[in-house]
Amino acid sequence: MTTLAHYLNNHAANPAVSDVITTITEVGKTISQLLRKGALADILGEAGNQNVQGEDQKKLDVLANDLLLDALAENKHCAGVASEELDNATPANADGSLLVLFDPLDGSSNIDINMAVGTIFSILPYQRQGNESENADFLQAGNQQLAAGYLLYGTSTMLALTVDDNVLMFSLDPDSGDYVLIEDNVQVDADTSEYAINGSNYRYWRAPMQQYIDELIAGKDGVRGRNFNTRWVAAMVGDVHRILCRGGLFTYPFDTKDINKPGKLRLMYEANPMSLLIERAGGSATDAVNRILDIEPTDIHQRVPVVLGSRNEVNYVKDLHVQHA
Ligand code: AHG
Ligand code: MN
Ligand code: MN
Ligand code: MN
Repeated sequence: MTTLAHYLNNHAANPAVSDVITTITEVGKTISQLLRKGALADILGEAGNQNVQGEDQKKLDVLANDLLLDALAENKHCAGVASEELDNATPANADGSLLVLFDPLDGSSNIDINMAVGTIFSILPYQRQGNESENADFLQAGNQQLAAGYLLYGTSTMLALTVDDNVLMFSLDPDSGDYVLIEDNVQVDADTSEYAINGSNYRYWRAPMQQYIDELIAGKDGVRGRNFNTRWVAAMVGDVHRILCRGGLFTYPFDTKDINKPGKLRLMYEANPMSLLIERAGGSATDAVNRILDIEPTDIHQRVPVVLGSRNEVNYVKDLHVQHA
């Protein structure tokens, strides 16, 4: 049996990165315990504020954010944190070599209905050690990430992690409190017949995305010649986890619902860490045309269209967009 602690101590290359992963995953245990108690821990419902994304915060969005922020501020390797729930990045320890970005609670609309939610994280190098970190320090392309992963609080709590080119899955043993390795070198199938999209936004999509979904719905009677199946968890963590387990395509595409936002998902807290996991597992991740990991960010909260998962299916979507361009 290999625990996360054993793996990080014996197989991971960068001790500072390992230490920060340990801090994040320890907080994950606390969030997991709170979720197990649910209503009994008074964690459900609204916090009563809006975040910088313009979303109504849930109590658990705020709680998870504060738990991560407090724990990482104590970690000497962490020079600063940026979060979906914070207006600006928060400096931590100026001598630290790492920056940490997170979506503390992914799938907020699932909290109050006892469905899967998660925590997504991304670790970047800090280039100005000795100085107080600021927003601009976080504006690095996803291809610079040193590690990334998520905690999925589902029927069990799981950690998916990528460090040193490997993608690993751990399951939290509620008895021992250890994350136990259950899969090493996770790989995503190149082909799939399963896709995830919120179809209620159809009228806001661009023509190539509408055409793509029309083709999937036509199934064996259409140009694809086979049937496709839809799954939508409404928490990206859940949808990406399914793809790491059995392949699939996930997209939250460009839409015209809000003219100021090219899609819903955040590049730094959602798209980049998930894209690193998916690519390292042999899948693909694009904004429908460009590789997500090569996007040079201009704002810590910027949004990006996302198409990720099984390589051949992602390429099919990309080809449709290139043909329409
Ligand atoms: P968050 O809860 O962190 O704001 O993110 C929710 C995101 C993502 O997890 C999910 O895929 C998507 O929003 C669901 O959006 P819809 O409610 O539009 O389906
Ligand atoms: Mn949110
Ligand atoms: Mn999210
Ligand atoms: Mn969130």
